[in-house]
Amino acid sequence: MLNVVVLVSGGGTNLQAVIDAVKDGNISNTKITGVISNNKNAYALERAKKSGIENLCISPKDFETREQFNEEFLKAVDDMEPDLIVLAGFLVVIPPKMIERYTNRIINIHPSLIPSFCGTGYYGIKVHEAALSRGVKVVGATVHFVDEGTDTGPIILQRAVNVEQDDTPEILQRRVMEQAEWKILPLAIDLIANGKVKVEDGKTVIL
Ligand code: GRF
Repeated sequence: MLNVVVLVSGGGTNLQAVIDAVKDGNISNTKITGVISNNKNAYALERAKKSGIENLCISPKDFETREQFNEEFLKAVDDMEPDLIVLAGFLVVIPPKMIERYTNRIINIHPSLIPSFCGTGYYGIKVHEAALSRGVKVVGATVHFVDEGTDTGPIILQRAVNVEQDDTPEILQRRVMEQAEWKILPLAIDLIANGKVKVEDGKTVIL
């Protein structure tokens, strides 16, 4: 059984996709053992509560220094004993010590086809604004392992989504969520839960 802890900051639609996929069996061999947010108002916490999943809020704002937050944050995650940590719209920098302790056991969903529109400053709606501003015809989402960089770890799954003529950033974001994010994040967790993902020479092999 894969114990999964999900880290969230916002609405939690990706979290909900994972909760639903575990419930309907599209993700097997997996239990969501906890949800942690840095934002006490994140609706994602409501979603966890409604599904009876342990949840808590811990924010850098509640600590004198980032080091103190990092220490408490890492302890809170460790206490939930994750086999896999899932970043689902989580907007806080992951402490280096956590990346080291959970090498190739932290995954992130990013709303673009990495390496396009990723890295520092590219998150949420900003990704889709940049895609429309560049005039690309195809966008999508990526699930990748988290390493010490920003959106730079080994790619696990990607799914492409067409840009339509009159798309606004909001319309495009919703399509990428519906057609890509909410599909490939559960699929990636199911693959990992069933031992079907290996990392070799910095790239993934899907068995
Ligand atoms: C979405 O834009 C998603 O692509 C990104 O973070 C945002 C949060 O979405 N990973 P939600 O909180 O899962 O609804």
